[in-house]
Amino acid sequence: MVKKLKGMRDILPNSIKMWQFVEEKARETFEKYGINEIRLPIIEKSELFLRGVGEETDIVQKEMYVFKDKSDRDVALRPELTAGVVRAYIENGMESMSSPLKLYYIGNAYRYENVQKGRDREFSQIGIEFFGSSSYETDVEVILAGINFFKNLNITDFTLKINSIGSTESRKNYIEKLKNYVEPNLNEYCKDCQTRFEKNALRLLDCKQEKCKKLNENAPKITDYLDTESREDFENLKKALTDLEIRYEIDTNLVRGLDYYNKTVFEFVSNKYNIALGGGGRYDKLVSSLGGKETPAVGFGIGELRLIELCISEQENQEFEEKLDLFIANIGENTKIEAIKLAEKLRSKGFKVETDLMNRSLKSQLKYADKKNARYSTTIGENELLSKKIQIKNMENGDIKQVDIDKIENEIC
Ligand code: HAM
Repeated sequence: MVKKLKGMRDILPNSIKMWQFVEEKARETFEKYGINEIRLPIIEKSELFLRGVGEETDIVQKEMYVFKDKSDRDVALRPELTAGVVRAYIENGMESMSSPLKLYYIGNAYRYENVQKGRDREFSQIGIEFFGSSSYETDVEVILAGINFFKNLNITDFTLKINSIGSTESRKNYIEKLKNYVEPNLNEYCKDCQTRFEKNALRLLDCKQEKCKKLNENAPKITDYLDTESREDFENLKKALTDLEIRYEIDTNLVRGLDYYNKTVFEFVSNKYNIALGGGGRYDKLVSSLGGKETPAVGFGIGELRLIELCISEQENQEFEEKLDLFIANIGENTKIEAIKLAEKLRSKGFKVETDLMNRSLKSQLKYADKKNARYSTTIGENELLSKKIQIKNMENGDIKQVDIDKIENEIC
């Protein structure tokens, strides 16, 4: 048989409830902030990500699924959604809409990574992007929307980590200082860091290898080199979060893996697994660098798989089991369609109802009803059709009641 590709995922009916639950909570949370949904293509021109995410990032260099289409165009499966949202924002004239323009998305992304718990090659991101406002209050609202999303999912075991990486100019100045610090010991850093030193030195701070972390212990801190505006915004952000009683940690090594950020960056990090559940920040230059007008923007992306694998599936008392309101069993050939008719009537009133489609014996039909967690069951036979009365069984406590067929809904609501 042909099997699926490594790192791709079949989401089967027995776990789909969790995914639907997370997605419903996302919609519910974000719509309260006046954020509207956007859906975009999974495949884009590769150039979008080279220019958007950054040519020297690991995502573009090592992880992107790129190929030629039938017309010899270089295309890529999106490794993240922000660049596509920005493309759509410019291409669809959303720049002229009133600001801030607030968008959210739920969609798959693809990265050729080492597969492990919480990390797949196909994964879904839930994210928001706000366009048109450069105020630190917007950063605050974006972070709040993330925090409230977690709250609505009953996820509390995470830390909000924040940092500011300043403007392009201040960062350039800082990178020089960082390189001066690293250079004398460059040979002791890992191979990846030696490459980063040449191509993307800021990412030296992000290395997960213990020896590199140790070497970086006394490195200059980016927050000591911020331009005035970034420093003020960062101070205001910290103050606002404190005012709002949002706990945070400053992590001056937090630089994120994508090149488009400036000023505020942040991550929601799982305490138990020490892995980012989500992350984001400000990207004030991305719209203009992809051909739009100068437009400040900020947003985040959260990994749905990480929420589910690392948090939701471990929650106690969380009910994801499917429940059927009523199972209608039937006895006798003539009652099958009557059972379907009754089921249709109740479905149109909002109940979840199933009937037998397998020609099973009555005993097996009721066994099936039990398996499907039916709250009630009933059996239609010739007698019931004639008398227009039916017995309803409460499957939880076994109580049986005789009711008019036309009034079943009063019994099962
Ligand atoms: P990112 O940090 O690369 O940011 O990804 C966001 C989240 O997606 C991660 O924190 C993680 O939960 C999830 N994720 C990433 N890679 C994988 C993977 N291989 N398997 C499972 N989950 C994964 C971005 O993508 C930015 N676009 C976020 C953003 C939006 N910044 C501003 N706006």
